[in-house]
Amino acid sequence: MPAIGLGTWDMGEGHAPRAQEADALRAGLDAGLVVVDTAEMYADGGAEEVVGDALAGRRDDAVLVSKVYPHNASRRGVREACERSLARLHTGHIDVYLLHWRGRHPLAETVQGFEDLVADGLIGAWGVSNLDADDLRELGQVPGGKACVTDQVLYNLTRRGPELGVLPAAAASGMSVMAYSPLEQARIFDAPGAEALTTVAARHDATAAQVALAWTIRDGNVLAIPKSASTARVRENAAALELTLTDDDLAELDRAFPAPPRQVPLETL
Ligand SMILES: NC(=O)c1ccc[n+]([C@@H]2O[C@H](COP(=O)([O-])OP(=O)(O)OC[C@H]3O[C@@H](n4cnc5c(N)ncnc54)[C@H](OP(=O)(O)O)[C@@H]3O)[C@@H](O)[C@H]2O)c1
Repeated sequence: MPAIGLGTWDMGEGHAPRAQEADALRAGLDAGLVVVDTAEMYADGGAEEVVGDALAGRRDDAVLVSKVYPHNASRRGVREACERSLARLHTGHIDVYLLHWRGRHPLAETVQGFEDLVADGLIGAWGVSNLDADDLRELGQVPGGKACVTDQVLYNLTRRGPELGVLPAAAASGMSVMAYSPLEQARIFDAPGAEALTTVAARHDATAAQVALAWTIRDGNVLAIPKSASTARVRENAAALELTLTDDDLAELDRAFPAPPRQVPLETL
């Protein structure tokens, strides 16, 4: 599966025309970005509706990821939320269904709800989001918890904490990591150290965004899901799959955006 997918946060809010947002997602699918990430939370279901528009007539082109609110993550609530999402998405199944973040419902109950949905064919697999390394270890101890396929977390050059926590914990559990906000919601271009992005990009005739994305997916177990409502920028992001950073590039980025010296709590947005 290509290591870059498509984010949808902010879609369906009216910040860009809905048809343009769906076009951008379709351009991403055409460029091979098959993973489409959404959530019941985004625009109160509006982002799922945009995804439904984008996937009309081509559902099988996508690996569809959506998320349940923590307050809906009881065994019964997970099913009801999933059914509402399926209706908005105009599909019969979600490929990977995530717990958006940890809330008051016990993980064991949420896992039971997810497993019911797998058994009934409403979802293909399930995962979590915003769970730190300790939470992942706890999840591995609950009945069925080892079936978790991914943890979606905030990870980019300016947020390197997961390298000492979630990334090794996920690898140890055999699950992948999805990196959300891989461009730090576009703030990365003005962050301290951003000039290194430009320098490295110039060496490859690439853009700063492509360098940031290529860095995020460099180790092979991370899938980045940048969001763009622009067809041109979606294609630009897709081309980052072809960019391989050299050891010199990585060293320069490491100096400009140093990792924390010790484990830090998982950051969220
Ligand atoms: N699980 C969670 O708790 C969680 C939290 C946050 C996000 N997410 C997911 O992760 C996805 C990505 O994160 P995000 O949307 O927060 O931030 P992001 O992908 O880091 O950044 C999106 C911003 O970058 C701009 N952009 C995209 N490509 C660009 C490029 N090539 N050059 C310049 N600017 C570019 C976009 O503008 P344009 O649209 O105008 O191009 C938008 O303003 C979300 O959409 C969502 O699906 C999950």
